[in-house]
Amino acid sequence: MIGLIGAMAVEVEALMAKLTERREERIGMDTFVSGRLFGQEAVLAVCGPGKVNAALCAQSMILHYHPAWVLNLGVAGAGAEGVGIGDMVIATAAVQHDMDTSPIGDPVGMVSKINLVEIPCDAALRERLRQAAEGVGVRVHEGIIATGDQFINRGDVRQRIHERFGAKAVEMEGGAVAQACYMHGVPCGVLRSISDGANGQSDMDYPTFTALAASHSQQVVERLLTAL
Ligand code: ADE
Repeated sequence: MIGLIGAMAVEVEALMAKLTERREERIGMDTFVSGRLFGQEAVLAVCGPGKVNAALCAQSMILHYHPAWVLNLGVAGAGAEGVGIGDMVIATAAVQHDMDTSPIGDPVGMVSKINLVEIPCDAALRERLRQAAEGVGVRVHEGIIATGDQFINRGDVRQRIHERFGAKAVEMEGGAVAQACYMHGVPCGVLRSISDGANGQSDMDYPTFTALAASHSQQVVERLLTAL
């Protein structure tokens, strides 16, 4: 069983449409749709935006479906110069850029309890994602993906996150899915396609480019699952 989580319907709906032998189950306020997807047993969910929604959904999925790995896919804002709309970013690790207990002596971004700033993504899954992404015909970057409970639409905020964490993309769920996976010993991946520059134009670019960017991520997953 493979777990796939998007924050919004548009981020998984093309995959949902390809799912056969569908079964739907509700846990709390999350709906899990399982079945066969490109030859694999898979479970899909739309977790809703933000870290708490994402962590709860990932934990329910892990406990109920015991996936061999979980992939969080979807769209993101660009986190660095040289990363553009339509590009793909595969996380080497995820950080939670709004976690900050530095006033009491911790590094900025350190997630208490697991005591990590960078929550690692599975190396073998990353390599598979890279190979799958290369066939989609978009530029592919690998690096840190930064997660926080904010839609970033200011260049100075994006720059601060980049300088602090080296982020290549900013979004709102990956670091929470990665934490849930880490806490349960489940391999994790985060795959994002860039919908906006996380700057003053994001309120225009995000609605314009989200559908295209979301489709890129889902094409990568199709290629990934087909190749397994
Ligand atoms: N997801 C897509 N664009 C984003 C942005 N600019 N900030 C946070 N999450 C995003």
